[in-house]
Amino acid sequence: MSLKKCKIIELPKISDPRGNLTFIEEMRHIPFDIRRVYYTYDVPGGADRGGHAHKALHQLIIAMSGSFDVKLDDGRNKKKFHLNRSYQGLYVCPMMWRDLDNFSSGSVCMVLASNLYEASDYYRDYEEFISVVSSK
Ligand code: TYD
Repeated sequence: MSLKKCKIIELPKISDPRGNLTFIEEMRHIPFDIRRVYYTYDVPGGADRGGHAHKALHQLIIAMSGSFDVKLDDGRNKKKFHLNRSYQGLYVCPMMWRDLDNFSSGSVCMVLASNLYEASDYYRDYEEFISVVSSK
C-alpha cells in the first residue's frame, strides 16, 4: 500500500444560511463500506493519538470540529496532513502508520472505518511494521 493512495477527499457540502450540511455515502464518496464510526474528543493539549497501523482497515478521518495533524508513513515515505474542515476527510488505506497530534482545544476527530474493532488488525510496534513492509 502506497502513501499516494491516501488523500484528502472533498465531501459534498450543502451550503445554507441556516447552517451547512455534509453527507457521506459508502462506495460513492469513499472507497469502502462503513462498518464502524468512532471519535475522539476532550483531547488534552499536547496529547498524541494513533501510533499504529492497520493490516486491512480502510478509514476516513474528519476534523468534525477544530483541527489536528495526521502524519502518515508507509515505511518509505511520510506525509503530514492538517485537518480543519468538516467537509473534508483524509482517506487512509491499510498498512499506513499514523500519528495524530497538534489537537486544537475542543477538537473532535471522527473516523469512519471499513470493519468492526479487531485488536488483531493492529501493528502497534513500529519496528515490526517496518520489517513487514520492507519484506514486501
Ligand atoms: P486506538 O485505536 O489506539 O486509539 P487512537 O488511534 O485514537 O489513539 O484505541 C484506543 C483504545 O480504544 C484501545 O484500547 C482500543 C479501544 N478501541 C475500541 O475498543 N474500539 C474501537 O473501535 C477503537 C477505535 C478503539
